[in-house]
Amino acid sequence: MSESRVRVALIGAGSMANTYHYPALASFPDVELVAICDLIEEKARATAQRLSIPAERVYTDYKQMLADVEPRAVYVLMPPQHLYEPALYVLKQGCHLFVEKPPGLTTTQTRMLAYTAGEHNCLTMTGFQRRFIPAVTALRRRVEERGPIHFAEVTFYKSTANLSAPAGFYDGAIDPLTSDGIHAVDNLRWLCGGDVVDVYADVRRRYVSGPIPNAFFALVTFSTGAVGTVHYNAVTGRRIFRAEFHGQNVTASVDADRDSLFVSDSGEPEILPSAEFGRAVLRPGEELRPYHWLGFWHENRHFIDCVKTGRQPSSHFADAVKSMELVEQILRAYRET
Ligand SMILES: NC(=O)c1ccc[n+]([C@@H]2O[C@H](COP(=O)([O-])OP(=O)(O)OC[C@H]3O[C@@H](n4cnc5c(N)ncnc54)[C@H](O)[C@@H]3O)[C@@H](O)[C@H]2O)c1
Repeated sequence: MSESRVRVALIGAGSMANTYHYPALASFPDVELVAICDLIEEKARATAQRLSIPAERVYTDYKQMLADVEPRAVYVLMPPQHLYEPALYVLKQGCHLFVEKPPGLTTTQTRMLAYTAGEHNCLTMTGFQRRFIPAVTALRRRVEERGPIHFAEVTFYKSTANLSAPAGFYDGAIDPLTSDGIHAVDNLRWLCGGDVVDVYADVRRRYVSGPIPNAFFALVTFSTGAVGTVHYNAVTGRRIFRAEFHGQNVTASVDADRDSLFVSDSGEPEILPSAEFGRAVLRPGEELRPYHWLGFWHENRHFIDCVKTGRQPSSHFADAVKSMELVEQILRAYRET
């Protein structure tokens, strides 16, 4: 075993893990996937087989796994209502930690995880992969060549199959903005930079029953002077995630699932399929996959590079606390009628 390979252990063998994170990690030559744990043994076994993790390194008890394999970094990928306990435990063992979004059910949980990471000198990362979409990072660079972003709009639209059920994720354990719309909120913060100065928000429950809202709008001003809007709405025609950002006489707009647009000085817009930006990281003969253009490959690469060099990832927990706080501020606008 070469010392230059980062020893990573995996907790959770679910959908996000198998579709995006573990395949990306497995493609990195400097990562060794040393063990996997899932409460459901068959899921852990099936994933282990795909990732060539030896059968004796498959666990259903993550504490046992950590004691046996002493990894340098751990992925904990599971729904937010099950996340806190294993995440806290991993940090207390001094391991670097990657989790999906949201980093906690509440801001308090996220603050506590950030604090514990600090106490144990752990590097942490929340999977805000939309910061790493290669079309966004490439076009953001081009916009900022002319000066800072002064206005950004991030929209995340979805439709709801069952309008007779209450909104909310995981049977209502968490509201849609904290669980899912936080992607858009975090993206706005990241594009505009600095700290939040002021928030105007409008939050409503549209068409669904129950106590949980599903339509969120906010206008946010930042200490950089940038102004942004964020719109998460679960009762629109279809799923669209779009980040649009404007600099000095220049505009970029990225829908990672479809096209990206770049235009400056009233010129002809350049329109490119967003997926094409993912090609830059392919190895010879490697097939272009969604995780290459949706930001998952790049966020996992960033986490591993940070572990290797000892620097905090871009979306470390103390930074993720700020996205949770902005979500909380927006949610305060909700009044059940
Ligand atoms: N980044 C994105 O765009 C995006 C999209 C969808 C979901 N997510 C997030 O990804 C996370 C995971 O979602 P998912 O759909 O992959 O979940 P999932 O339900 O498919 O998988 C979770 C797995 O964790 C296992 N598990 C639960 N508690 C455990 C424990 N204590 N020990 C070991 N294993 C345990 C379960 O058995 C299950 O196999 C969620 O936080 C969700 O918000 C992110």
